Amino acid sequence: MTGTNWAEIDRLAKEWISFAGKKLKDSFEEKLKIEIKTNPNDLVTNMDKWTEQFFYSKIRETFPDHRILGEEGSGHDIADMKGVVWIIDPIDGTLNFIHQQRNFAISIGIFEEGIGKIGLIYDVVHDELYHAIKGKGVYLNEIELAPLEPVTIEESIIAINASWVASNRHLEPHKLQSLVKRVRGTRSYGSAAIELASVAAGRVDAYITMRLAPWDFAAGIILIEELGGKTTDLFGNKLDLLGKSSVFVSKPGLHEKILQEHILDSNQNINT
Ligand code: IPD
Ligand code: CA
Ligand code: CA
Repeated sequence: MTGTNWAEIDRLAKEWISFAGKKLKDSFEEKLKIEIKTNPNDLVTNMDKWTEQFFYSKIRETFPDHRILGEEGSGHDIADMKGVVWIIDPIDGTLNFIHQQRNFAISIGIFEEGIGKIGLIYDVVHDELYHAIKGKGVYLNEIELAPLEPVTIEESIIAINASWVASNRHLEPHKLQSLVKRVRGTRSYGSAAIELASVAAGRVDAYITMRLAPWDFAAGIILIEELGGKTTDLFGNKLDLLGKSSVFVSKPGLHEKILQEHILDSNQNINT
């Protein structure tokens, strides 16, 4: 497909993100309808649903041949990455949205034949739009982000949730405990999209987590790859855009060192 007008898709997606972001901010004045999904910590609000439906309608109307994979299920039943596929998380960080009214994002990755073409992460309350068109650099609002450069483990700040250094169902925590003790610092923002965008912006040097869905990481990996960063699962394998997996993104150099010195020899204990 050579005829796809990515600049126009990008322009419209940004226009829709800006409109949806305003609606999300306006919703702070209203009472949210909150429902439990799989467990009491897995929540969805009327605004998650509204936002996804809004993008779904706009995309269907404007690009009827594009397909959509959305967290709240408004999209298609996607079993492959043929053609143009939009992967959408309408609110990433729903718990932050409900509890803090900040630190949540709209995350959209647009792929053609499985190749990331456009990545958009909008941190709504900070009004920070991270955006990239493949081959044209990554921007935070109007500012172009610098390519990611190697850093040592000792000088790095990594984003990691405390769950993964406590007993958990997915991996033996001791390897990540030794990593956490070795790095300069750790951070946890409660929104995978913001954590990925923070790697792109150089605010953190890596992000490690055990179980994300494609809508959590689709946009973020486009930004990071465009800047020369590494995006894999915790085994160092390519991420699967159609299934859940662990996610390990990082500056180049640091990725290899963390994998070799802290993770790979504990793979037998990882259960994603
Ligand atoms: C969640 C956030 C969170 C991550 C969870 C995700 P949601 O997404 O990204 O940071 O740890 O695994 O499910 O449910 O708020 O869209
Ligand atoms: Ca999410
Ligand atoms: Ca979500």
